Amino acid sequence: MKVHILAAITLMALSTPVFASGNVAKGATIFHMCQACHSIIGPNGKAIVRGGKIGPNLYGVIGRRAASEPGFHYGAGIIEAGKKGLVWNQKEIATYVKDPTKYLQQYTGDKGAHSNMPFKLQGGGGADVAAYLASVAH
Ligand code: HEC
Repeated sequence: MKVHILAAITLMALSTPVFASGNVAKGATIFHMCQACHSIIGPNGKAIVRGGKIGPNLYGVIGRRAASEPGFHYGAGIIEAGKKGLVWNQKEIATYVKDPTKYLQQYTGDKGAHSNMPFKLQGGGGADVAAYLASVAH
């Protein structure tokens, strides 16, 4: 009997989208700040969130190699991180948005590395915004 309950719970967990620890609704609100620079443009050019063009399109960013959005002109620091194998997941994005330059310095091991993203998400919410990004494209 116990086994059956466990199996049922596992099935439920698999069938409802699991977005790690973040709150998607809160993340959507936080994304309004990101929207100044980032759009979310789905396949076929469909705008899910119309935003700025200073930053790369964030559609499908989870699971995407860092600095790999075609046509976007990235800075050297994030290109280096991508070459070193950085693939975005929710945990990495949650950390990155708190302090992108510090994140790139730690990831690349290069104290001179610099991010071109002129924004730091202060006061928490990184996990929420990462969960939101996962929820719009999966
Ligand atoms: C003031 C503009 C600006 C704001 C606000 C901003 N970003 Fe960015 N973002 C950028 C730029 C520019 C880059 C490219 C960084 C580089 O080339 O070093 C970037 C890169 C990124 C990347 C890496 C994407 C890739 O293709 O590798 C992620 C993820 C990201 N931003 C998430 C966010 C999130 C989430 C927020 C809101 C919490 C946010 N950004 C707010 C400008 C911004």
